[in-house]
Amino acid sequence: MKKQTKLVYLGSRPEPQYGSVNPPIFQTSTFAQVAPGEYKGFDYTRTDNPTRTVLQDMLATAENAEYALALASGMAAVDCVFAKLKTGDHIVTGDDIYGGTYRYLLDIASARGIDTSFVSFKDLENVRAAIKSNTKMIWFESPTNPLLNLNDIAAIVAIGKENGVLTAIDNTFMSPIFQNPLDLGVDIVMHSMTKYLNGHSDVIMGAVMTNREDLYLVMKNHQNAVGATCSPFDCYLAIRGMKTLSIRMRAHEENALKVAEALNGHPKIEEVLYPGLPSHPDHELAKKQQSGFGGMVSFRLKSDLEGTRKFLTSTKLFVLAVSLGGVESLIEQPATMTHFEMPKEAREAVGITDNLVRASIGIEDADDLIADLFQALDQI
Ligand SMILES: Cc1ncc(COP(=O)(O)O)c(C=O)c1O
Repeated sequence: MKKQTKLVYLGSRPEPQYGSVNPPIFQTSTFAQVAPGEYKGFDYTRTDNPTRTVLQDMLATAENAEYALALASGMAAVDCVFAKLKTGDHIVTGDDIYGGTYRYLLDIASARGIDTSFVSFKDLENVRAAIKSNTKMIWFESPTNPLLNLNDIAAIVAIGKENGVLTAIDNTFMSPIFQNPLDLGVDIVMHSMTKYLNGHSDVIMGAVMTNREDLYLVMKNHQNAVGATCSPFDCYLAIRGMKTLSIRMRAHEENALKVAEALNGHPKIEEVLYPGLPSHPDHELAKKQQSGFGGMVSFRLKSDLEGTRKFLTSTKLFVLAVSLGGVESLIEQPATMTHFEMPKEAREAVGITDNLVRASIGIEDADDLIADLFQALDQI
């Protein structure tokens, strides 16, 4: 079966008792035991729940993985990826990663005695040079959030393997439809399921996937121990969302390309960052390691902080909001919204300037989206 067939198939298996074609929402914290310690596969929802199991099977299928865990948020999933690391360990990561992960590494991982080096992945020699005797993991995104720089996954895996260091990637922006890093040798893939996987901006959830049983067991134990569990109802919503993941991603991408092309060359636009444009510096790499260019478009206005605020408050269709990957189009200013956790100098050093705008292109009609952006540009 092809992936799209499998996702619909797994999410629509008739349940044995009444034949419901949708998985029941097992909205329960606990399960009756037949005798002490004897139960029918599930004892407590923090540990496991049948609705979550259906979702986890779909998540594993989506990433060509042996194992998947559904968690309470993308950040709970990030935390789970680092579960194997201990005091004294070291992580190498990019200098333009998602602001929440940046904050996690600086505040939470460092308090646990885990040190992080933030380096530019534009030259992978920086990654090699940052590896120390206590380095245990290379953590990266591709494309990065919000600059949409690509990282060469196979080359990073090779560096990891040469040095006996695990590799883990945040694959949220591509979704498993356009990029499957486990196939390229990455050890752990993480998603904010809040975004494309669920696709309707109505849950906060995360996921991790791996082919390694040892890593899966460590992460599963961590999730259960810290209680980073998602609700059965949210699992149901994500199951419903994932059945249309493949067609949604195609629609996001088709619209994103049209929007990027329309903005490119507009007199009030300084630069459009979209890997699907041949002018993007990583366009060839995108064609090599991705099967689509995705639905995220970033761009710089020929304007300042005030002008950018004016633009962002002038859209009528695009909603001014953080997050991404829902059917509706969202727009935001990374410097003040998603990446304010990064110190100003660190932001500006990597190019997260005040005139940078990030748009999550939804599945509306592309002509309406372009008209909305153009009328907002007229306001500045
Ligand atoms: C790339 C990326 N990773 C991780 C996260 C965190 O996910 P969540 O908000 O579901 O905790 C986000 C959220 O915006 C994100 O954009």
